[in-house]
Amino acid sequence: MNTSSLIICKNADLLAVRAADFITECAREAIYERGYFAIALAGGATPAPTYALLATPERQNAIAWEKTYVFFSDERFVPHSDVRSNFAMAQRSLLAHVPIRPQQVFPVPVHPKSPAVAAVEYAERLADFFAIRAGDPPPPFDLVLLGVGDDGHTASLFPGSSGLQVEDAWVISSSPGMLHDHLDRVTFTFPLINAARHVAFLVTGEKKASVLWSVFEGQAAREDCPAVGVQPVSGTLTWFVDEAAARQLTQGPGTA
Ligand code: 6PG
Repeated sequence: MNTSSLIICKNADLLAVRAADFITECAREAIYERGYFAIALAGGATPAPTYALLATPERQNAIAWEKTYVFFSDERFVPHSDVRSNFAMAQRSLLAHVPIRPQQVFPVPVHPKSPAVAAVEYAERLADFFAIRAGDPPPPFDLVLLGVGDDGHTASLFPGSSGLQVEDAWVISSSPGMLHDHLDRVTFTFPLINAARHVAFLVTGEKKASVLWSVFEGQAAREDCPAVGVQPVSGTLTWFVDEAAARQLTQGPGTA
């Protein structure tokens, strides 16, 4: 595992504070340096408290939403009206509550005839946004947010899946693997994730303690624990974890 920052927070609420501060700082840095902030949101349940915090009246003006562009590092191939949709979660917890124009939010298309077609369309949308061609090297998001499943998956890159080997595409479709929800998905690939200027994992709860040990101390292989494949080429990698998730780690800085 390459060098990364491990921030252990006392509990999930304090993790949301630290993560919201980090996202806000990434936005400030990106807008100062390049005039815009391109972020890819993580799905699942863990990020929701952080997103909700960013949407509070006290915090929502800390990010220049008029210069912010929101994408999704993966998506379940379900309608946005489906409660399992990552876009729906982000909409409920954040996007419906901040002054961001809909034209600056780029959901993964979920109406094409297949996840594979959706993946191609999303890559083309990224190419348009970054003003490059879909076959070019992956563009650098200012921040990619990720979670990790208790099986070691991240985004929708699952253990043993062929998607782990993809080097020549930014976005692919992904079959659900062993996940109980059996949903087809669309996901960023490692090349796109690892091209980011900043990557941050948000991980809470004792159910993630074992997988965090695998990542940090178990020398897990990327094939078995895809999260270890997140190694930004030149960007930073920060793990925000709460004490419950860090329970099996023998080292790590003090709690924050
Ligand atoms: C998804 C997510 C996925 C998620 C992990 C953790 O679509 O499910 O993008 O990668 O981050 O499964 O999910 P929880 O935060 O719900 O534990």
